[in-house]
Amino acid sequence: MPFYHTLGEIPPKRHTQFRKPNGELYSEQLFGTIGFDGMSTNSYHVHRPTQVKEIRKQYSVAPKIALENSIKSYRFRGFQIKPEQDYLESRKPVLTNSDCTIILAAPKQKTQAYFYKNTDADELLFIHKGSGKLRTHLGNLDFKYGDYLLIPRGVIYKIDFDTEDNRLFIVESRRPIYTPKRYRNWFGQLLEHSPFCERDLRQPYELETNDEKGDFLIKVKKQDDIFEMIYAAHPFDVVGYDGYNYPYAFSIHDFEPITGRIHQPPPVHQTFETDAFVVCSFVPRKYDYHPQSIPAPYNHSNIDSDEVLYYVDGDFMSRADVDAGHISLHPAGIPHGPHPGTVEKSIGKEGTEELAVMVDTFKPLKVCEAAMEIADEDYHKSWLDH
Ligand SMILES: [Fe+2]
Repeated sequence: MPFYHTLGEIPPKRHTQFRKPNGELYSEQLFGTIGFDGMSTNSYHVHRPTQVKEIRKQYSVAPKIALENSIKSYRFRGFQIKPEQDYLESRKPVLTNSDCTIILAAPKQKTQAYFYKNTDADELLFIHKGSGKLRTHLGNLDFKYGDYLLIPRGVIYKIDFDTEDNRLFIVESRRPIYTPKRYRNWFGQLLEHSPFCERDLRQPYELETNDEKGDFLIKVKKQDDIFEMIYAAHPFDVVGYDGYNYPYAFSIHDFEPITGRIHQPPPVHQTFETDAFVVCSFVPRKYDYHPQSIPAPYNHSNIDSDEVLYYVDGDFMSRADVDAGHISLHPAGIPHGPHPGTVEKSIGKEGTEELAVMVDTFKPLKVCEAAMEIADEDYHKSWLDH
């Protein structure tokens, strides 16, 4: 996150002596990205963060591919993904390529007996159902319906849910996830035409500092394997930190839509960017107000990007027969557009209550086995006249 944040206690100058009440030194850790060129955080730990006792197990969680190369449009019924007790086991990859993996999860257990760290990818969690607290070694964030949680790679976390009824739409990104550059000035400040500003981005507000030694299980994901590592000290033992690399939250309900006299293109909905895909938020908004405007989108051919839409809530103007939790996959190379009848129907309407998250990837996505189990095999024919 390109603005500075500090939580807890830190010494006045970096890389200098900072001591505990008993006179021992705190352990300093520079937690950075892209070598020493990306965003970083400087944290101070009660115990050395390097104390590996044991590497117990190693197993693959790589997405299982069902369709390596496909040109068929699909609809997947996301809420048919089976709930699982455990958070990590509940994560079912549905679409993947070498840059990102799209995952659906319905975890039931309210917490985990372990900690988790993804070293492969930044994680963007969209909370479709559920509320609770994301707990990380860099502080905690409360979350609820409609929140995006951005967890940079390497952050150690666990999630506490308030209830058993949780639905998450997750994007794992091997490329760093940022907010769009075009909305920032040279200094990184969000500009006046940005659909959100710094006040909408929630930073960790509560730091847990545990001075505890023992056996602490951290499940570490690296190259699509999970390594079960036992550490000798509690991973949430930071007494203070400062910097730019930390998890944050943003509610889709705080995205201010950009509208116009005629149909605005998808980039006005953009919320996050990487160099391999974008994430857009479609939120309730007024429709186009030119007297001859057509609010429904035109047919379009994103010739070199796959388009994934995750339907969250409200009526979706261009689609017939879509429900909350559905995902549509419109692959690169062929045009798609509004369903029959929806263009005429949209004329004269003044607004929409639709809520959806879109992921457009620049490399084609492979369809995973979990997606085929919830796939509508006839969806690609849904543009025919009936
Ligand atoms: Fe589209």
